[in-house]
Amino acid sequence: MAQSISNSEIASLVEPARLHKRLYLDPDIFELEMERIWGQAWIFIGHESQVPQTGDFFTTNITHKIPVVMVRDKSGAVHVLHNRCAHKGAKLVEKREGNVRGAFRCAYHGWSYRHDGSLLKIPNESGYEGTGFDLNSPCNNMQKLAQVESYRGFVFATLSPEAPDLKTWLGGAVDCLDNLCDRAPEGEVEVAGGVLRYEHDCNWKFILENLNDTMHPMVVHQSVVQAAEDYIASLPESAGKKRSEAEIILPFGSSYENFENTGITGFRYGHHYDGGKSSIHADYSVLPAYHEAMVKAYGEERTREIYSFNTHNTLYYPSLTIKSAVQNIRVVRPLSVNRFVVETWSFRLKGAPDEMLQRTLLYSRLINSSASMVGPDDLEVYRRAQEGLESNASDWVEYHRQYGRDQQLEDRVVGGGTGDLDMRTQYKAWREYMTGEIFQ
Ligand code: FES
Ligand SMILES: [Fe+2]
Repeated sequence: MAQSISNSEIASLVEPARLHKRLYLDPDIFELEMERIWGQAWIFIGHESQVPQTGDFFTTNITHKIPVVMVRDKSGAVHVLHNRCAHKGAKLVEKREGNVRGAFRCAYHGWSYRHDGSLLKIPNESGYEGTGFDLNSPCNNMQKLAQVESYRGFVFATLSPEAPDLKTWLGGAVDCLDNLCDRAPEGEVEVAGGVLRYEHDCNWKFILENLNDTMHPMVVHQSVVQAAEDYIASLPESAGKKRSEAEIILPFGSSYENFENTGITGFRYGHHYDGGKSSIHADYSVLPAYHEAMVKAYGEERTREIYSFNTHNTLYYPSLTIKSAVQNIRVVRPLSVNRFVVETWSFRLKGAPDEMLQRTLLYSRLINSSASMVGPDDLEVYRRAQEGLESNASDWVEYHRQYGRDQQLEDRVVGGGTGDLDMRTQYKAWREYMTGEIFQ
């Protein structure tokens, strides 16, 4: 149980351009974050294509201590249920994914549940007769989460009955999920190519802060960009210099000016993205067969419009980060104050040639995998930050870049690509979640 910390004390930890280091170090703050941020926000659970058939399930956690299961029933509906037996509380489904034909059966005393979570059967049921126990009471079902919704196949759930509907919560940032799906000639995507799971020994917020921190790639990833440049220069002309690997890695060395011009856009509830008109993915070559399929599906003008909305990373605070232009996502799951897991999932664009999925998988291997050339650079600096914050040198970390220059538009805030608008956006939401003001 977290120590009680008053709302005014919490608010004092997040100044407009400085953060107190307790945000990264204090286990009581972490427990409160699980309760008030992860326990209230819409959390990404999975994609419907992970459970295509009746009885298919996928398990994950919605907070560090609350396991859930996503399952499809015979009517085709997808449910997200607490992964907990109603009898004595045992976790019901241990496997990460699979198919359960008739019902979930608890490994302890054999209570079984339908795919919608309702209680199906209790062994030796007569023992309950005349005891006042009500077999049909909803308390004896696997419990549903407070709200579950899907947007274009992306399933989110929240433990909060107060949260607004998913579309409202996504706000203008929904454009990025739309763009990811619209890049499929059939307008739909499906999970493909497995998952990369990568544990980090630091606070979960570091990865969210790093996504659209465009002041770091040319420094942190300098060596990998240099190595890629040297390798490409060593290739004979006949090998072709414009390879997919080069297109993916070299933009990480883009100049400050280029990153500044991409811009950052922030929204309510902490969501934000980098890019829009341009991003580090903007100069990828377009495969002729893919272009043909897109034009056939959408027409020339709409196809250009879809390509031209080019974002780098979008964060749906706090659990989901997507790359619309590359069709992969990263899912964040905190474990403790200094440990979290990131999962990278890749998507097939329905109706697109297989080369598009191959490029997505190549991107994941080159950038996101624990054996990649780029991701481990980031992990190393997060680890150093976590270690450095333990010292008594100062209580504060700062994010003043371009403070005071952000421009408030109707439903969003826009600013320069190298500013700290992404930090201001997410920490405004952090403070509102943590002090109970978020849905007021
Ligand atoms: S705990 Fe599940 S059947 Fe007893
Ligand atoms: Fe990075």
